[in-house]
Amino acid sequence: MKALEWLGNTLRILNQTKLPVEIVYRDAVSYQDVAEAIENMEVRGAPAIGAAAAYGFALGALEYQGDRDGLSSFMELVQDRLEATRPTAVNLFWALRRMEDRFRECREIEDLSEVRRVLIEEADRIAEDDRRMNRLIGKYGNEIVPEKANILTHCNAGALATVEYGTALGVIRAAHEAGKGIHVYADETRPFLQGARLTTMELLRDKIPVTLIADSMAGYLMQQGKIDLVIVGADRIAANGDTANKIGTYSVAVLAHAHGIPFYVAAPTSTIDLKVASGQEIPIEQRPDDEMRECFGVQTAPAEVKVYNPAFDVTPAKYITGIITEKGIVVAPYSVNLLKLMVRS
Ligand code: MRU
Repeated sequence: MKALEWLGNTLRILNQTKLPVEIVYRDAVSYQDVAEAIENMEVRGAPAIGAAAAYGFALGALEYQGDRDGLSSFMELVQDRLEATRPTAVNLFWALRRMEDRFRECREIEDLSEVRRVLIEEADRIAEDDRRMNRLIGKYGNEIVPEKANILTHCNAGALATVEYGTALGVIRAAHEAGKGIHVYADETRPFLQGARLTTMELLRDKIPVTLIADSMAGYLMQQGKIDLVIVGADRIAANGDTANKIGTYSVAVLAHAHGIPFYVAAPTSTIDLKVASGQEIPIEQRPDDEMRECFGVQTAPAEVKVYNPAFDVTPAKYITGIITEKGIVVAPYSVNLLKLMVRS
């Protein structure tokens, strides 16, 4: 099951808001379609958002009707619209920057169809890089997974959150493929239920043993000795290692620390943002109130109740045992080691 697929001049997006009940696709033919799909969380997960935005940028060039002179200002509008969709995952800005750089390199090319070809090629490369990085994250991550591990994960950092394979679930997949007796506890991940709806579905499809728990059960399971390891994904990693991920990740990290359980973050280097010194500078998205008052159309709270709905939180670096990337595993001191990692080819 693919989160997104490029069909030549259309981006086919699996509408994840309908999973696991229905399989519905949006065939995006414009950059506005892609922007809407990201905003509505039809496509979600940091690397998948980045790749979708890259194709959205290419779609902008495809749909442009004017002459060559007007293309640059149109592409600025396209980029602004796509950048305004979701603020926390840095992969969105990383991918759009790559597309922007590639577009700038086309300034001498007069032929619009050649510019479009170059942009589609760059979006394909971003998607291909993500596939490759996730496999490597799986390979490195497998080294820290013990035999017969019970692994807790939060949200969905799987194939559905990436172009393929996943980051946290990529590590879990690699360990399972290596024959280690893996069992996963999946936090349901209120309020959007990415764990309940997406992570369990992915793991069941791959025949990886999984048990669904409510977020509030994680501490109890740790106290009972039922969790050996926690692995989560990331939306943005600051230069000092502080990591933004789905709301609730911080609570899991503190619990893991209190119980002496290793807590790993798995993410490609496209999620590392050295321009942000610490987690305090990471913008945290606020989602619509109704996501808290309703659960997929069913009212679960008084319609008039006041709501607070931050979509992400920041886990301080001191709670993170290691960050698993496609270049290897980074440990503290993160300020030094993340910088070294990023300059290494
Ligand atoms: O709001 P979402 O579903 O986009 O949030 C997703 C997460 O927080 C993931 O853990 C993160 O993006 C990593 S995905 C490989």
